[in-house]
Amino acid sequence: MARHLITSAIPYINGIKHLGNLVGSQLPADLFARYQRGRGHEVLFLCSTDEHGTPAELAAAKAGKPVAEYCAEMHEVQARIAEGFRLSFDHFGRSSSQENHKLTQHFAGRLAEAGLIAEVNEKQMYSHADGRYLPDRYIEGTCPNCGFDSARGDQCDNCTKQLDPVDLINPHSTISGSTDLEMRETKHLYLRQTQLRGQLEEWIDSKTDWPVLTTSIAKKWLRDGDGLQDRGITRDLDWGVPVKKGDQDWPGMEGKVFYVWFDAPIEYIACSQEWVAAGKGSDWERWWRTDKGAEDVTYTQFMGKDNVPFHTLSFPCTILGSGEPWKLVDYIKSFNYLNYDGGQFSTSRGRGVFMDQALEILPSDYWRWWLLSHAPESSDSEFTWENFQQSVNKDLADVLGNFVSRITKFCRSKFGEEVPAGGAFGAKEAEVISALSERLTAYQGFMDAIEVRKAAGELRAIWVIGNEYLQDAAPWSTFKEDPETAAMQVRFGLNLIRLYAILSAPFIPDAAATMLAAMKTEDSAWPDSVETALSALQAGHGFEVPENLFRKITDDEREEWQARFAGVRT
Ligand code: MF3
Ligand code: ZN
Repeated sequence: MARHLITSAIPYINGIKHLGNLVGSQLPADLFARYQRGRGHEVLFLCSTDEHGTPAELAAAKAGKPVAEYCAEMHEVQARIAEGFRLSFDHFGRSSSQENHKLTQHFAGRLAEAGLIAEVNEKQMYSHADGRYLPDRYIEGTCPNCGFDSARGDQCDNCTKQLDPVDLINPHSTISGSTDLEMRETKHLYLRQTQLRGQLEEWIDSKTDWPVLTTSIAKKWLRDGDGLQDRGITRDLDWGVPVKKGDQDWPGMEGKVFYVWFDAPIEYIACSQEWVAAGKGSDWERWWRTDKGAEDVTYTQFMGKDNVPFHTLSFPCTILGSGEPWKLVDYIKSFNYLNYDGGQFSTSRGRGVFMDQALEILPSDYWRWWLLSHAPESSDSEFTWENFQQSVNKDLADVLGNFVSRITKFCRSKFGEEVPAGGAFGAKEAEVISALSERLTAYQGFMDAIEVRKAAGELRAIWVIGNEYLQDAAPWSTFKEDPETAAMQVRFGLNLIRLYAILSAPFIPDAAATMLAAMKTEDSAWPDSVETALSALQAGHGFEVPENLFRKITDDEREEWQARFAGVRT
């Protein structure tokens, strides 16, 4: 039995995520976790909310709530939605947990001891009206280069010039609009990532099996030098992990917190401690410490492409720099973006379908199937309502749903609600078994390699084989002349339903559970061979006709939804 540690990039606490966010990390991570569990392996699947940083503070202020209260509420909201999508986290933690506070401070202390932290005095814009230092992107003014009047403190969106807030003409706070700004001196900690370049390069070069999307981004950042600069890891904010060296105060750093991108990945580890604290597990170290049993863990991370630099450079610097035997990631699966109906998803403009809205209009399996079978792996992909309608109506309703319904209903009407006896599998069945065996091998290969779209393609082909068999065998005609053979065909079909439930569960867990329940079996063991799997349900075994597995999406619905999600959500 192998052991798989699986993490999904942790979603920011502010706001509900859209389907593009979902398919970029949490959903494929869940697919992989369910698959590995299905194969009988031991899995620890972790995710959390990413709760620190200025956006969280601003969202709380906008909601008129203390930030801790806002985060607690939003965490519950995201947890409920995750359940709605059947995301099977072993624990859904919080980066604001005490566990993460301690561990983040621990790492900072280790890095300081290793001489990898520099204390730097720098100037930063302070806003009197807002009572806070302003991150660069919250300052706007006129671009000194092109004259554009809403250039941000970090970059001009008009001419793309990289800027410093001091460069701006007439700078103002985008939070309050105030121009009462002052450059103040403040001290910050920098992680000396440049010291770790050699180690990092060697590590990334050893990852020859990683997806091109992952390594190309990592190498570009390493090579261009831009990415591997020493990095500020503290901020002048109230909300976050207080800057400490282990459990000791850090002179000169009072009132400051760690930068959100420093503490967020550490939460992957802290989350396993929260999992233990919640009484769901007993030993987190055997997943994370290579001196405590984690050397035979396979650790896979899932994330969108914008997260890759943080996971290939920054977080590994934290881990390597600590000099402690923490588990480093073995495989990083990254995703391109999902676009929405001719444009981009937009959180601010409410363009596209958000996770809560999706579940209001259709059950999670419909979304899971479309999103996973169209995962933006080799390039960006696009959600369109036409495509969604087509996939659901064809793959789910016409192929899989129809197959299950026809077999079970026909059997009930001619033989009753039991697997019928009689006949023996013949040439046709042997052909199906051999075709399925080939597809199963391919399916497993793609799932092992986390080739999500290709795996979906194989699964679809596996469903199609059953449908074609049914078409071809036509037990409803056979029955008139040869009820024995018809009984055998139906028995074969009922066993296919059970097999489909097992193989489909990682993609569409609810429908899979319905199929298994209808076959009145709890034996969901992954098949060693198709042939033996198809004799699992023996003559006399009871079953029932399930509710329709999938309904079709009508043209009216499609048009209504397309209009409804076109933009401007309040
Ligand atoms: N919250 C970040 C995002 O949504 C992801 C953080 S992943 C972690 O882009 F590694 F920092 F945890
Ligand atoms: Zn400009």
